[in-house]
Amino acid sequence: MPVVASGSDAMQQAADLLTSGGVVAFPTETVYGLGCSTLNEVAINRVYDLKGRPADNPLIAHVLDRSWVADLATGWDANCDALADACWPGPLTIILPRDTRVPQQATAGYDTIALRSPRHDVARGLLAAHGGPISAPSANRSGHVSPTTAVHVAQEFAGVEDLLILDGGPCEEGIESTILSMAGEPTILRPGSVTAGMIDAVIGRVAEPTIDSQTHAPGTSTRHYAPQRPVWLCDRADFESHLSNLDEPCAALVCTEMDVPPPHKAIMLGDDPVGYARRLYAALREADSLGVSTILIESPPAAEAWRAIHDRLRRAAISAVPRPQ
Ligand code: TXA
Ligand code: MG
Repeated sequence: MPVVASGSDAMQQAADLLTSGGVVAFPTETVYGLGCSTLNEVAINRVYDLKGRPADNPLIAHVLDRSWVADLATGWDANCDALADACWPGPLTIILPRDTRVPQQATAGYDTIALRSPRHDVARGLLAAHGGPISAPSANRSGHVSPTTAVHVAQEFAGVEDLLILDGGPCEEGIESTILSMAGEPTILRPGSVTAGMIDAVIGRVAEPTIDSQTHAPGTSTRHYAPQRPVWLCDRADFESHLSNLDEPCAALVCTEMDVPPPHKAIMLGDDPVGYARRLYAALREADSLGVSTILIESPPAAEAWRAIHDRLRRAAISAVPRPQ
């Protein structure tokens, strides 16, 4: 089993492990990351191996603050300063042209690099103790649901003896950062809790493609954020009739109280997007563990505050399994 640890001794052990080319899972305010030194090509390859991540899907480099960006990227301008003033540390990832000193492995050969300064104390402590950028994808096997607790990470990497997991408790936000390309016209490549409206208020313009358009981060192009059981999305108005058509037990993820008769099992996520996001990935994992054959999810409201949640639900639901009639 991987080792799960917390406290200042663990932090130093983790920083030493990163320096010697090892891999450390750590909490951020969004989800747990699987971290390695951005400048160590061997360690980066190990992260791709452990995740089973396609070699063409680049990583986010985590930095303590904007003063670290000059070694990693070019093109940091007044708009980036304004974004960092408003959103760093926090769940906004900014993409800029990659500095040639950064190994190509750190960005899967892309000539851009994704940068984020996380807000979580443990992530910040680790960055400070390591003293350099940490590249980290979400700490799940490729295509799986992102982990929001140390236990989730340990389940994903059971059997990986040399993985150290820093336990910082459950993640406050629960879904991944907003990704904003500032290499060219400002464009959101992955929606998150930093919304288009918030970015627009800071820099005056931003494009936000729809989920079905071609402009998105490379790693979000296929079925993603997916539990093991097939996922169906369903409007509240049709929910009860879909349930009654299902012979096999299903897990019903609903926003608010609803009549969910046996053998189906209800998991309530609430009608507030902040709380819903915080619980969503743990709920998908719980649904997988209930011995059900499918997961039926009530479509949340259409408002902008729910946009990132809709994005994740749609991607979890993209599957070859036909919807129930
Ligand atoms: O909240 C988060 O962003 C978490 C925590 C750990 O920081 N990280 C995370 O990493 O979600 P990952 O690897 O699971 O997702 C990063 C996404 C991928 O879809 C990847 O394709 C995209 O960012 N990405 C990274 N570098 C990029 C680049 N240079 N250009 C376009 N997309 C990029
Ligand atoms: Mg991920």
